[in-house]
Amino acid sequence: MSAVLTRPATAEQLRAAWCEFFAGKAHTVVPSSSLIPTHPSAPMFTNSGMMPFVSYFLGEEPVPYDPPRAASVQRCVRAGGKHNDLDAIGRSLRHLSFFEMMGNFSFGDYFKSDAIPWAWEFLTEVLGIDGDRLWITCHLSDDEAEEVWADSVGVPRDRIQRLDKDNFWEMGETGPCGPSSEIFWDYGPDLGPAGGPANPLAEDRYVEIWNLVFTQYFRGIGGELTDLPKANVDTGAGLERILAVLAGSPSLYSADVLSLLVEEA
Ligand code: SER
Repeated sequence: MSAVLTRPATAEQLRAAWCEFFAGKAHTVVPSSSLIPTHPSAPMFTNSGMMPFVSYFLGEEPVPYDPPRAASVQRCVRAGGKHNDLDAIGRSLRHLSFFEMMGNFSFGDYFKSDAIPWAWEFLTEVLGIDGDRLWITCHLSDDEAEEVWADSVGVPRDRIQRLDKDNFWEMGETGPCGPSSEIFWDYGPDLGPAGGPANPLAEDRYVEIWNLVFTQYFRGIGGELTDLPKANVDTGAGLERILAVLAGSPSLYSADVLSLLVEEA
């Protein structure tokens, strides 16, 4: 359990809690890198925390961390390409074109049986988030992830749902990819119908706060999938989304990093 004693309420506190938690799990904490990625397979902008590490996922360069794990709080832009949130800005309270993604990464080291319980521990023990209001999705093919959520973590199976494309994350048209497992916060019946994240009419009610990707494949330019040299983990948790949950608000604009700007404007 982390040494963080008070529940984070600001972006600075949440970033610190994240880095402290994963440093305590033997991750090297790496600073946010440029919004312009350098790997030839990368899209135009850094769209997620994994992008600075592409060459390690692909086995092109030796991993400089011992053990081969990293954690970061990466600035991201989603304003074009495969992950384009631009059209939702201003219409939705939960999308931003520029945001910060907190991530933990395993380069051929730990896998689902560690990544999943750590995510639960961080949310429920460090942040004090009510686990009874968290829902989980796993890829249709991924029995292993569902077993870890149900058997190791103890999430009731009626709050674990299995989806297809929504649970397969890809960096861009080409690049590392794999099945994913997402964690959603239930904002309650005022924000939409029941049925969990699998209900497409309930997107405002069940909001994704963390995506755990099990990066096992490479998508080539012809669309083909090949195995990566090792099975990896790439997780991404939305800093502003978690701050909104902690503030009890469905609006990302309640995060201090944005509310201060809005008030100033
Ligand atoms: N790459 C995944 C995402 O962006 C997890 O970090 O959702």
